[in-house]
Amino acid sequence: MKLFELAELRPRESLRFPLGQLEGFAVRDASGSVHAYLNICPHRAQPVDIGDGRLWLDSGEIECQAHGARFDPATGACTGGPCFGRGLTRLGIEEREGAAWLLEPLQYR
Ligand code: FES
Repeated sequence: MKLFELAELRPRESLRFPLGQLEGFAVRDASGSVHAYLNICPHRAQPVDIGDGRLWLDSGEIECQAHGARFDPATGACTGGPCFGRGLTRLGIEEREGAAWLLEPLQYR
């Protein structure tokens, strides 16, 4: 399942995409690597990325806009705030033909 064109995702930006009845989001970290997650915060299950362009912090972390839980964009690990050690749900993707593809069956890493 093709998720998005890689050219649409620039460093320190994010991109949301449909995932069946759920939603995912992807980030490209400062090193250029792409990482994808379910767009569900482990704190209170609200979207982490609401598409307002304020996901990234100057520290290099990403922050849920609901209550400020912070995550490592490269791993999804909780780095502070009310995620209480619970990280994001990572999606298995591969990059080929200029696009990001979901590894099927849906794999959470
Ligand atoms: S739902 Fe994300 S910090 Fe509360």
